Amino acid sequence: MEKIKMNVPVVEMDGDEMTRVIWQWIKDELILPFVDLKTEYYDLSLPERDRTGDQVTVDAANAAVRLGVAVKCATITPNADRVKEYDLHEMWKSPNATIRGIMDGTVFRTPILIDSVKPIVRGWKKPITIARHAYGDIYKAVELRTDEGGTAELVFTGKSGKVERREVAALKGPGVLLGMHNRADSIESFARSCFNFALATKQSLWFSAKDTISKVYDGAFRDIFARVFEEYRARFEEAGIEYFYTLVDDAVARVVRSEGGFIWACKNYDGDVMSDMISTAFGSLAMMTSVLVSPDGKYEFEAAHGTVTRHYYRYRNGEETSTNPVATIFAWSGALRKRGEFDSLPELVRFADALEAATLGTLNDGLMPKELAALADGPAEAVNTRRFLAETASRLAAKLG
Ligand SMILES: NC(=O)c1ccc[n+]([C@@H]2O[C@H](COP(=O)([O-])OP(=O)(O)OC[C@H]3O[C@@H](n4cnc5c(N)ncnc54)[C@H](O)[C@@H]3O)[C@@H](O)[C@H]2O)c1
Repeated sequence: MEKIKMNVPVVEMDGDEMTRVIWQWIKDELILPFVDLKTEYYDLSLPERDRTGDQVTVDAANAAVRLGVAVKCATITPNADRVKEYDLHEMWKSPNATIRGIMDGTVFRTPILIDSVKPIVRGWKKPITIARHAYGDIYKAVELRTDEGGTAELVFTGKSGKVERREVAALKGPGVLLGMHNRADSIESFARSCFNFALATKQSLWFSAKDTISKVYDGAFRDIFARVFEEYRARFEEAGIEYFYTLVDDAVARVVRSEGGFIWACKNYDGDVMSDMISTAFGSLAMMTSVLVSPDGKYEFEAAHGTVTRHYYRYRNGEETSTNPVATIFAWSGALRKRGEFDSLPELVRFADALEAATLGTLNDGLMPKELAALADGPAEAVNTRRFLAETASRLAAKLG
């Protein structure tokens, strides 16, 4: 069989631990036999980030901006234990945060559904994608605790010198205070990423906040979305999808009663909470994909889970593991499909579709990684990762042959 050609490389960001092991297996078994793979490779493993003073992460993110499509393996975000374990020079920042900052992107998380793992919410038939605004609000807040009463004020000094003040509270006794902010340009980028992703996936977009209570702050989010939407309205109509804004409590009720099949854009804290609710209710963290989309339509695909450390220690001891590779496979298929769409390579798009179909075929035939087999309704055989990949490779070859 002749291998499928690529023109422009995908930015490949390698990672750590068990997912790094699986990364290579996926390439060897599922991609390299079929595709003349072109990648621009960056090693984002923790030792390499430490060796380069984290420059490799910055270079990888810039490459993603330049080439437009990246695929990333899970990476360790170091904490104090990891600094000791890897003898690090510094407690390097989360690579995902660095990449998100450079691409100015929004993260979209989508569950992968299979027949035998039913969502806890019985009405859900299609995936629900959460878009979380990953800047500001309580995540960049300033907090203060006081042991005595007093007056708290919000004071803003403009560049022009104009000063605005609001009284926050006149406290009679001890209390707590919090000052948070967001930026109009960040909210606008978030809105654009959401509208672009809705068009690219042909799904309606919901956006929720609490503007009845927070008239100025959440009201600004609502207004910016409404203004930016006007640039997209005609394309939404043409695609047969809609955008609407609703209160966050109303959104929760609608989501639970829905069939799925839409994107729910959330403010930072709502997105933090709701993405865990959605992934748990759909089944497994290992079946969740994550795509970072920049406001000008650049994409970085990855699995939503981490490096599966526990399995890695067992693998290092020579044990077989049943680590779920599905979300990492879908990160590769997502990146190759997007490259195929950008470069008008229908064969590459067809390959991405076949790779996903073959993976779902293995699962729907009842051959599953252990944690998924435990959730399945009906007969399921727990297989190790190598067997799962081999079964998927033979289904893929049959589809492409
Ligand atoms: N996007 C990323 O790069 C990313 C995201 C989260 C965590 N991390 C990193 O991953 C490391 C481990 O963190 P963690 O344990 O909190 O998260 P994790 O996602 O690796 O594991 C959480 C739990 O889910 C299970 N699990 C996750 N993915 C699985 C899979 N594919 N197959 C089978 N079981 C799976 C694990 O066994 C564990 O019980 C940390 O160093 C963290 O910094 C990276």
